[in-house]
Amino acid sequence: MICDSVLDTIGDTPVVRLRRMSVGNGAEILIKLESFNPGGSIKDRAVLSMITHAELDGRLQPGGTIIESTSGNVGKALALIGVARGYRVVLVVDPKAPPSMLRYASALGAELDLVDTPDEHGWYQGPRIERVQQLLAETPRSFWPDQYNNLDNPRAHAEQTARELLSEIPRFDALVTAVGTGGHISGISRTVKRALPEVVTVGVDAECSATFGYPFSQWATPGPSRIRGLGLQWQPRCLDLDVVDRVHLVADHEGIATTRLLASSEGLLVGESAGAAVFGALHHAHHHPGSRIVVLAPDDGVNYLEETFDDDWLRSKGLLERIEEAGLRTVDRLVALARQPSTAAVARTPELTGDLAGSR
Ligand SMILES: Cc1ncc(COP(=O)(O)O)c(C=O)c1O
Repeated sequence: MICDSVLDTIGDTPVVRLRRMSVGNGAEILIKLESFNPGGSIKDRAVLSMITHAELDGRLQPGGTIIESTSGNVGKALALIGVARGYRVVLVVDPKAPPSMLRYASALGAELDLVDTPDEHGWYQGPRIERVQQLLAETPRSFWPDQYNNLDNPRAHAEQTARELLSEIPRFDALVTAVGTGGHISGISRTVKRALPEVVTVGVDAECSATFGYPFSQWATPGPSRIRGLGLQWQPRCLDLDVVDRVHLVADHEGIATTRLLASSEGLLVGESAGAAVFGALHHAHHHPGSRIVVLAPDDGVNYLEETFDDDWLRSKGLLERIEEAGLRTVDRLVALARQPSTAAVARTPELTGDLAGSR
């Protein structure tokens, strides 16, 4: 196949069945690998949609500058699509962004604007948005995609990702996936539920996140998750709570241990948010024998080789100790523990009550 532009290679990503990471009750987990997109993540789809619709209605004009706050994958996608469509791209980043992602965006000509002072809880999200507002005011013909609140983000997934999924997997029982902006879970779930109303959608988020409306103050140690892509201090407009049936807040050590074992047992080097989602899927599988569960893997583990896949880095954050204490070094132990994880999946919709495990 010959494509006219790199942007024509976005989408049609493969789906792989997990073989070793199985609970053994007839449930199967299928994982859609979004790292096969040209920018290496699911964000290529959302960014292409946000840019295309902004061009169509004049919010983005030829010669304009795109300015966005990002911790990684959106920056890669914007850098790529900016080159292909001819825009200057300025990315407001923070010191937590993986260096490989920043180097990727720079290689494609994006400019990086570093915010190095977090707020009082150790988060950078608020300070980054403030910096975006400042740059927008200073830059003529600038456009802010605003990935958290721009409905062209979920629209990409409702119109493209979900249709692709339904043609690849015509019948399934559950969709378990990570939530950041809420873009992909909302868009995919909305379209999938129209075609397959029985599908249960589970949103996987970080323990200290306020995305699903849990008060930020309830956490003993409020602060950012180590799992990139998850955890917000506010509720994004892109998240459609009506199409999310359950929420599973996965602990960092559970998500990271799963990510490492996906690489070493399945040969799937995916990012941490995919690991967290697979952990959520294993939990769901325990309680739904014979079900078919679809998980999205938003990005590639190559982004995290210096962190999630590095024992010294994990040790320095106290995570290796937690993984070892929980015995999460083997697939068998991980699969067993997923039955009753540190936080069970809780229902959001009235039809599904209580948590899956029955107890915490
Ligand atoms: C690695 C990773 N996982 C998960 C997500 C969450 O996806 P969404 O923003 O569609 O909710 C993101 C979003 O940035 C991400 O980069």
